[in-house]
Amino acid sequence: MEQTRIIKMEERHVDEAACFIARVLDEPKEVTCQDLEDFLDWDDEEVLLLVVETGDGRFAGVAGVIYEEWNDTSTIEWIGLIPELRGQRIGTDLLDRMIEWTRAQGGRKIYVDTGVEEVKALAFYEKKGFSREALLKDWYRDGDDAVLLSLRVTEPRSG
Ligand SMILES: CC(C)(COP(=O)(O)OP(=O)(O)OC[C@H]1O[C@@H](n2cnc3c(N)ncnc32)[C@H](O)[C@@H]1OP(=O)(O)O)[C@@H](O)C(=O)NCCC(=O)NCCS
Repeated sequence: MEQTRIIKMEERHVDEAACFIARVLDEPKEVTCQDLEDFLDWDDEEVLLLVVETGDGRFAGVAGVIYEEWNDTSTIEWIGLIPELRGQRIGTDLLDRMIEWTRAQGGRKIYVDTGVEEVKALAFYEKKGFSREALLKDWYRDGDDAVLLSLRVTEPRSG
C-alpha cells in the first residue's frame, strides 16, 4: 500500500486540485483556480481545504468543506481520490478530518449532496453514518436528481 499524507491545501496545489475537481470529479458546479485561491484567503474557521499527497509528493486527492456560522452546519463541497488510491480508507480519513473540524467550530451537522445514481458515494457516506434527508429533484439540472445526506456531529441540546 502506497504511503500517503493528508495536508492542508497550499497555493502550489491549486492548479492540480481545480483540474482534478473539474475532470475527475466532474462536478456540475464549476470550480476555477481563482475560486480555490479565494478560498485560501478565507479564515481557517470558514473553510477547510485538504489535499492528499503520495509519499513522493504527487497530488492524489482533494476535499473541501465550508462552515456556515448562521446555522452552525457545514457542507462538504468535494471529496475525491485518484482511482488507484480508492478503497484504502483514505476517503474515510478525509471525512473524519472534516467531521472533527466541523465539531471544533461548534457545528451541529455536516451535509453533503450526491447524485441519486452515485451508489458507491452513497454507500461511502452511509457507512460513515450519514443518513438520507431529502431527494432534491432536478438539483444539478433537469432530470438529474440529488440526495442530501447529513450527519449529526454534536448531540442536540435538550429542552
Ligand atoms: C468516494 C471516495 C472519496 C471514497 O474514498 P475511499 O478511500 O475509496 O473509501 P474508503 O476506503 O474510506 O471506504 C469506506 C467505506 O465506504 C464504502 N465504499 C467505499 N467505496 C465503495 C465502493 N466503490 N462501493 C461500495 N462501497 C464503497 C464501503 O462501505 C467502505 O467500507 P469497507 O472498506 O469497510 O467496505 C472515493 O472512492 C472517490 O474518490 N470516488 C470518486 C469520487 C466520488 O465519488 N466522490 C464523492 C462524490 S460526492
